Amino acid sequence: MPLARPIVFGNWKMHGLRADALALAGSLAQRSARLSATLGIFPPATVLAEVARRVADTALMVGGQDCHDKPEGPYTGCISAPMLKDAGARAVIVGHSERRHGLGESDDFVCRKARAAIESGLLTVLCIGETEEEWLAGRRFEVLTRQLDGSLPDSATAETLLIAYEPVWAIGTGRTPSIEDIRETHAWLRRRLAARFADGAQMALLYGGSVKAANAAEIMAQPEVDGVLVGGASLHAEEFWRIYTSGGGA
Ligand code: 13P
Repeated sequence: MPLARPIVFGNWKMHGLRADALALAGSLAQRSARLSATLGIFPPATVLAEVARRVADTALMVGGQDCHDKPEGPYTGCISAPMLKDAGARAVIVGHSERRHGLGESDDFVCRKARAAIESGLLTVLCIGETEEEWLAGRRFEVLTRQLDGSLPDSATAETLLIAYEPVWAIGTGRTPSIEDIRETHAWLRRRLAARFADGAQMALLYGGSVKAANAAEIMAQPEVDGVLVGGASLHAEEFWRIYTSGGGA
């Protein structure tokens, strides 16, 4: 079954000690007994199991922020896709720019992670996006082509994977591309996916980067934008909920 649109996902990144994480999850859980669309949260691994238990009776989806490409083994500090699933995750983010650029993860490594996540039955959120330098040099589509070719596995389907386009220069900066640029990039992504995958026309495409309640409605109204991946604004229940409802979620 395809996910109901809009899809609104909150990436908490490295935020949330237990008390705050459970308070935030609880506040969202109160509103999420039933949801007309798709709402998900991606807490830090340390609180994932507790958060998943806290929202277990609701329609909220819980996911991990990253996974290793192996199911287990001598990889100190890493977390595998089966471990995330075991902790209550239904989804996982891979290829976030804070790992690609911040930690030097290659397209190939991200591809193997995505494959592992799909094999474990986790809904996989594959992030792609150009840096400011690449954007200014007019290399956006060249970079996205390389990332799609290198990190999106052939085993992906619309049921198992969705793409989040997050321009690196829009993450946490308060800046976003113009609405025309977002529309153009998403239309381009849609054509690429439709050309490569039998069900590419159905694969969900999220936008991420400085999404807040004030701009979410306009972004989500664009034809090939199926939802948003929210960072900072997802740490506030009220703001995050307003983003969800502004896209038509109830
Ligand atoms: P911000 O919404 O804080 O810009 O972060 C976006 C992001 O990186 C989500 O994964």
